Amino acid sequence: MNKTYKIMTFGCQMNENDSEKLSGMLKAMGYTPIEDERKAGVVIMNTCSVRENADVRVFGNLGAFKHYKEDNPGMVLAVCGCMMQQPAIVKQIKDQNPQVDIVFGTHNIHRFPELLANYLVSGKRTIEILDDDNGLVEDLPVDRRYPFKSYVSIMKGCNNFCSYCIVPYTRGREVSRPHTKILKEIENLAEDGCLEVMLLGQNVNSYGNDRTDQYHFPELLRDVNQIDGIKRIRFMTSHPKDLSDEVIDAIATSDKVCPSIHLAIQSGSSRILKLMNRRYNKEQIIELVQRIRNRIPDVAITTDIIVGFPGETEEDFQETIDVVQKCRFDSAFSFIYSKRSGTPAAAMESQISEAVKHERLNRLLDCLHDISKGQNAGYQDQDVTVLVEGKSKHNEKRLSGRTMSGKLVNFDGDMESIGSIVTVHIKQAKTFSLDGEAIES
Ligand code: SAH
Ligand code: SF4
Ligand code: F3S
Repeated sequence: MNKTYKIMTFGCQMNENDSEKLSGMLKAMGYTPIEDERKAGVVIMNTCSVRENADVRVFGNLGAFKHYKEDNPGMVLAVCGCMMQQPAIVKQIKDQNPQVDIVFGTHNIHRFPELLANYLVSGKRTIEILDDDNGLVEDLPVDRRYPFKSYVSIMKGCNNFCSYCIVPYTRGREVSRPHTKILKEIENLAEDGCLEVMLLGQNVNSYGNDRTDQYHFPELLRDVNQIDGIKRIRFMTSHPKDLSDEVIDAIATSDKVCPSIHLAIQSGSSRILKLMNRRYNKEQIIELVQRIRNRIPDVAITTDIIVGFPGETEEDFQETIDVVQKCRFDSAFSFIYSKRSGTPAAAMESQISEAVKHERLNRLLDCLHDISKGQNAGYQDQDVTVLVEGKSKHNEKRLSGRTMSGKLVNFDGDMESIGSIVTVHIKQAKTFSLDGEAIES
């Protein structure tokens, strides 16, 4: 029997973290990973549905497996993730994709070993999707990608129902993990040599709101900060409506918590923000960013922006540009609004044409890139500490890693330093990265 596997992961860190758990379970069952999905005994496609092109990519990939299975008839093809929480997609897989053997969702990844075993015995296509939580499943084996940095999920789901977004439908309601479990997991990671943790949640600022123990995100940051061996603490994502002074204070006063905040604003127009159901306005964003910068002077603030939300006028778009210029984001992911069926925004009138959306995106990108360049210029000729993550993407002889503030640094240094923290002198600050040389400390 071919006991190799390949997991193909689309989407965000939540999916990456789920894939690490699926990988952990497969290894525990005696499977070994393999690079080439065409040769694998088990393939899992962990899907994302946040924008339409994510769905399109997955169906494109699935199509190719019709042929792969002709050459590798024993292959088991499983699909899971956010797309599978939508009945119309599961129907499409049922009706048009006979090459798929197992379908499961975001609420039952822990069931995968059983679903696989059942399939292998019965040979019958297995579909199991749960609607929502039966709480949390703890203590799954995890196969982590790096020994020196790790994702730690602190909560799942989302209660915000932004009008454009599919995530609350695919991931269910917010459920926070008990802090004792989170702290234990991080202590174990530290014992295994992990230096950096990334605390994950769709809205980490509301961590603990669903629990009764009066233990929230600031308490968690402070307690993780006390764990020996951990050198850096990151977290994402922050929703502006819940980023309180207590959270800002905990970041400012906990030395290991990175001065790096991913604060998704989505738009700068108060009118559009209201239609998006974001529950803050333009003035509140500007004031919040100012408050963060005053309290944490070396902070890098990054964001997500959507252009072309239904009804967005040129004036609304100019408000976004204005906020971007005032807030001076270090970098941003900008997206063209994508209609997700079942969300309130999909039914709104005055959807914006593709041409206008693209044209706005290009103007926004020009503005964002100028600002990134200006923000990075402050690093020129400075010495920064970098957690060395590996070889540089474009040059095998160089290294790359990130500063405390999250900036990507490509630099000349010792290959042996991968997985440790070194000091790098920045020789050239660019728009998307910094360039430098490791120095003896
Ligand atoms: N929970 C995070 C976001 C998760 S989704 C937060 O609120 O900060 C990541 C990003 O995808 C969002 O911030 C948003 O900018 C983008 N996005 C979500 N739905 C979208 C849609 N329908 N069209 C375009 N972009 C979308
Ligand atoms: Fe989506 Fe809004 Fe929840 Fe983020 S906060 S996952 S954008 S609904
Ligand atoms: Fe995509 Fe699901 Fe993440 S829709 S962005 S994989 S939560």
